[in-house]
Amino acid sequence: MNMKHPVIIQGGMGIAVSDWKLAKTVSQTGQLGVVSGTAINSVLVRRLQDGDKEGHVRRALRAFPSQEIAEQILASYFIEGGKEPMKPYKRPAMFGIQSPKALLQLNVAAAFVEVFLAKEGHNNPVGINVLEKVLLPNLSCLYGALLAGVDYVIMGAGIPREIPGALDLLSKSKAASLKVTVDGAVSGEETITTFDPAEVMNGVLPQNLKRPYFFPIVSSSILAANLKKKATGEINGFIVESPLAGGHNAPPRGPMKLDEKGEPIYGPRDVVDLKEMAELGLPFWMAGSYATPEKLAEVQAQGAHGIQVGTLFAFSQESGLTPDVRSEVISRIANNDVPPQGLIFTDPLSSPTGFPFKAVRLGKTIADQETYEKRKRICDLGYLRHAYKKEDGTIGQRCPAEPVEDYVKKGGLREETVGRKCLCNALMADIGMPQVQAGGEIEQPLLTAGDDLNLLGRILKPGQLSYSATEVITYLLS
Ligand SMILES: Cc1cc2nc3c(=O)[nH]c(=O)nc-3n(C[C@H](O)[C@H](O)[C@H](O)COP(=O)(O)O)c2cc1C
Repeated sequence: MNMKHPVIIQGGMGIAVSDWKLAKTVSQTGQLGVVSGTAINSVLVRRLQDGDKEGHVRRALRAFPSQEIAEQILASYFIEGGKEPMKPYKRPAMFGIQSPKALLQLNVAAAFVEVFLAKEGHNNPVGINVLEKVLLPNLSCLYGALLAGVDYVIMGAGIPREIPGALDLLSKSKAASLKVTVDGAVSGEETITTFDPAEVMNGVLPQNLKRPYFFPIVSSSILAANLKKKATGEINGFIVESPLAGGHNAPPRGPMKLDEKGEPIYGPRDVVDLKEMAELGLPFWMAGSYATPEKLAEVQAQGAHGIQVGTLFAFSQESGLTPDVRSEVISRIANNDVPPQGLIFTDPLSSPTGFPFKAVRLGKTIADQETYEKRKRICDLGYLRHAYKKEDGTIGQRCPAEPVEDYVKKGGLREETVGRKCLCNALMADIGMPQVQAGGEIEQPLLTAGDDLNLLGRILKPGQLSYSATEVITYLLS
């Protein structure tokens, strides 16, 4: 067994649920804290528009290798004392195949800030998590993380075959590219997105950045074996995630069938064989309802190096979720005030990615049909848009959660829009940064968590309605 890696990985949780405070707390215990890089540019600009009250973002920006870029960002977004609550946040441009230079600079800086703050004040490793499905911001985000010395890159929601090679190039400040899947493209037509530090970084190009370990998140040993063989560079380990995990889940193998509650049915083919994983010869961590000391010991006995845990950390004091949202969930669990159909619903439709997405049934969130239907559709963050080929041959972007008529005008099928929810805006609301839309409509949250939400009772001390991430670690190692 490879002893140099930590046993517990705090899973990356977007958007900024696993922010730098959570990751730092976990890493300081000697386990692995992981920040989320998803939509990190929007997180940075909203923190600045909220006045960066404790000064952390500005302190980190002062350490950014290009002060010219850092100053441009402050000039564009920082509001002393914070914006007025009912004023909308100013938004950066949306990512495209070729994104504007200022947007790429912002994303590099935002990822740098998050990793810098998570690493500040200790010498333990820190990771960053991004999603293959949110492809266009990934290269600039990873470059920013590399500039801050990130130690691990963990990536799920897709097959990140090209990332290992991209990390090799980016660690030398060289240009890297990724293939973009374009709906409607015919075979032989290839679209790529490229990030070249030399074009973006205003001449600041460190040559010897550390190449972090790369761990893809997989849902089967076949996929893991395939990635190990076909990736463009070295893979250093795997996270093996089951459909009980919070966030997005891999769809069931074979055609999607739903049970009477409307949730995807997973079967024996979706169970990962740990023996086959161990035979690949790389360390691996089990994720998705493994967060007990007993299960940790059990999977280690079968060859796993450890576990990746999300849900228990998501509701700890250090997570980015707003205290209101956190305490409502915790007090419901402590008081056994749980809807008869259960707190968690694996929604096969809500995510514009097409992957099942777990939602917590709770109060006024867009998991509730009535709240969802009241929301006027708008697509103004655009991280989950997919590329498609327009009639004139150029490439556009569309999201099935955008206004239905817009989606249909772009050649999308009307039936694909049914039940799709704007995760971008909802997840920004979860962390207390909801957009104020035209007419004063405030974006509502949509919480995600895994089946381990029911374990919170094990961590809470009697009479307590909050707990720290360090208590989660103590529990898991007990
Ligand atoms: C609130 C929340 C957000 C998540 N977001 C992401 C994400 O952005 N990327 C990712 O790879 N996994 C995400 N996950 C999955 C976790 O990283 C982790 O693998 C999973 O939660 C482990 O299972 P558990 O929830 O049973 O502990 C998320 C999980 C939660 C609870």
